[in-house]
Amino acid sequence: MSESVKGIVIKEASTSKILIVYHSGSGSTKTICEVLKTRLSKYYIIDMYNLFHIDNNILNNYDLIVFGFPTYHCQHQNQ
Ligand SMILES: Cc1cc2nc3c(=O)[nH]c(=O)nc-3n(C[C@H](O)[C@H](O)[C@H](O)COP(=O)(O)O)c2cc1C
Repeated sequence: MSESVKGIVIKEASTSKILIVYHSGSGSTKTICEVLKTRLSKYYIIDMYNLFHIDNNILNNYDLIVFGFPTYHCQHQNQ
């Protein structure tokens, strides 16, 4: 079984683990990542961390890593 969310087809549950890494200066990107996490949690195992609070050693534990960053002055934030 699968579901289409705004044209994106999400396939039924698997054991895939997805990591969402975000940076959010004023909170908008975090909010979007939280919505993404909530929606995808129905199908996948999702963990979500702030870029500055992540242990790089866990990156190999995931099948897919999603990055969420705002655009500031036509680039990602330099921090
Ligand atoms: C100082 C500053 C510079 C920005 N520069 C851009 C930009 O170059 N291009 C763009 O599309 N949005 C730009 N934005 C809009 C932000 O990308 C947008 O508000 C984003 O949602 C902020 O995410 P955050 O709340 O997670 O920090 C800028 C916002 C700020 C405050």
